[in-house]
Amino acid sequence: MDPIQKFLMECEQEIQLQSGDEEFIALSKQWIEKANSLKYSYHFNWMDRPIIQYPTDIMALHEIIYKTKPTYIIETGIAHGGSVTFNASQMALLDLVDPLPSGKKRHVFAIDIDIRDHNRKKLEEHPLVNYYTLYEGSSTDANLIKKVEEDIEGLQHNLDGGMVILDSNHTHDHVLKELNCFEKFVSSGNYLVVFDTIVEFLENSSWPGRDWSKGNNPYTAVIDFLSQNSQFEIDKSIDNQIMFGVAPSGYLKKK
Ligand SMILES: C[S@@+](CC[C@H](N)C(=O)[O-])C[C@H]1O[C@@H](n2cnc3c(N)ncnc32)[C@H](O)[C@@H]1O
Repeated sequence: MDPIQKFLMECEQEIQLQSGDEEFIALSKQWIEKANSLKYSYHFNWMDRPIIQYPTDIMALHEIIYKTKPTYIIETGIAHGGSVTFNASQMALLDLVDPLPSGKKRHVFAIDIDIRDHNRKKLEEHPLVNYYTLYEGSSTDANLIKKVEEDIEGLQHNLDGGMVILDSNHTHDHVLKELNCFEKFVSSGNYLVVFDTIVEFLENSSWPGRDWSKGNNPYTAVIDFLSQNSQFEIDKSIDNQIMFGVAPSGYLKKK
């Protein structure tokens, strides 16, 4: 057998085993509970910008982006900008290894209701600045979304090849609204990633000063959304691969 195929098959079998391993499942849950209580996900950078993610989710995103090769990414929730520089770096890599036939550059469209001056300054001085556009406003503001759509068309000339990552306000209502506003930007075979579905699964989490909780969070929004939209399905293979992260059942693939 071709050695590459053989390795891939072994990996698939191992992933199937680990995803059914009760001890590993329990340890992963215990680990994420503890990590969350210590704000572990706040302590990483991507190209000098703090990225509030777990390394497992970052690897999953890299694999998805490299495999699906989106021409643009819309992301909500910028914070310090690490997810913007991460997504931009993936777009730049794709441009290097798989340039678009049109000669256009791939691009990230990033939205946050509050882009702090010091974060904006760093992002505006960043070497990848030409790979992204920042928008300040609510991610569910119809006028802002229209502006994003016009800018995508302006830069890329069509809406093909889109991917969307949601990581802003984590209440059920807000995420459901985001899902309904942004699903049209996701191309068939591409992903709509919903972060912080983990809120539903943490036993000891409290979110002081936040409006989300068990029963009111991105996971409940995903379930609601999927009950009304049959174009998307949860890609469980990613949960099975990474075992712990902040987006269980949050990697949605458009059929
Ligand atoms: C979890 S952080 C984003 C982390 C970032 N994606 C990363 O990986 O580093 C959430 C961000 O969502 C923003 N936010 C909250 N409500 C929002 C809304 N209605 N529209 C857009 N952004 C919002 C907050 O200002 C905050 O910067």
